[in-house]
Amino acid sequence: MLGVEDRIDVAEFLSSGRVEVDFEAGDLPNRIARGFEQFLKGKSLEDRMQWAFDLGVVDEHGNSDYDTGYARKSGGPYDRKDIFHYKIILDALLKERKIETGRHEPWLRDLQELFSLSFMKILEFARSFDADSPGLDLSRRILDPAAMAMHALRALHYDQRGRDETDSAQIGKPHTDKNFLTLHVAESAPGMRMGDNHELYRAAPHTALIFTGDKMGRLSEGKIPALLHDVRSDGMTQGSRWSIVFFCHIAV
Ligand SMILES: [Fe+2]
Repeated sequence: MLGVEDRIDVAEFLSSGRVEVDFEAGDLPNRIARGFEQFLKGKSLEDRMQWAFDLGVVDEHGNSDYDTGYARKSGGPYDRKDIFHYKIILDALLKERKIETGRHEPWLRDLQELFSLSFMKILEFARSFDADSPGLDLSRRILDPAAMAMHALRALHYDQRGRDETDSAQIGKPHTDKNFLTLHVAESAPGMRMGDNHELYRAAPHTALIFTGDKMGRLSEGKIPALLHDVRSDGMTQGSRWSIVFFCHIAV
């Protein structure tokens, strides 16, 4: 039964703040990356902004737990990021703005499917965790309706045109994630580095990585701190880089 046989190595997670898990997403990440690229190419910025929803308070970094749909971030001329957050509420929001989806945007269904797979994997982990070390009630917290509204599958697209060998390969500064648990699903090439010693994460086939965010640090009163990480794109001076990540939240 799910969670009881404890296939996920909770001890590894407790000691390092991360654990590799079996994860079978098939062709979904590639299809989503291609779908998002088509979305970016095929629509003007004005049209894309019709897909942007901000339902909550924005913090000093311009982020919000309630960012939904499309967002564009620019850290400078060579640091352009396009982001898409799939959340449960997205379909209703698009419908409310009378935005045509359906057969025009099949990648939305792929996002929805990968969102579900990712959430089920985090839930499996939470049940293993709760069976191993009761007290924090992870599964109950992530199933809470307020948390369900915040969980997000993020597709990230870095535009690397214009970069050259002299530009910094650092495309994501060292940071901790502000959510509860992150499931790193897929990326176009290894680039994420974990922990103080900047260890490059290379996913084994059919696996994904779960690691801790700020809300886990707070919930555990610092016993399970958020894991520092950054992203580099060494050797990539053209084309684009993409990644797909699931952000799991709790209401705090
Ligand atoms: Fe991150």
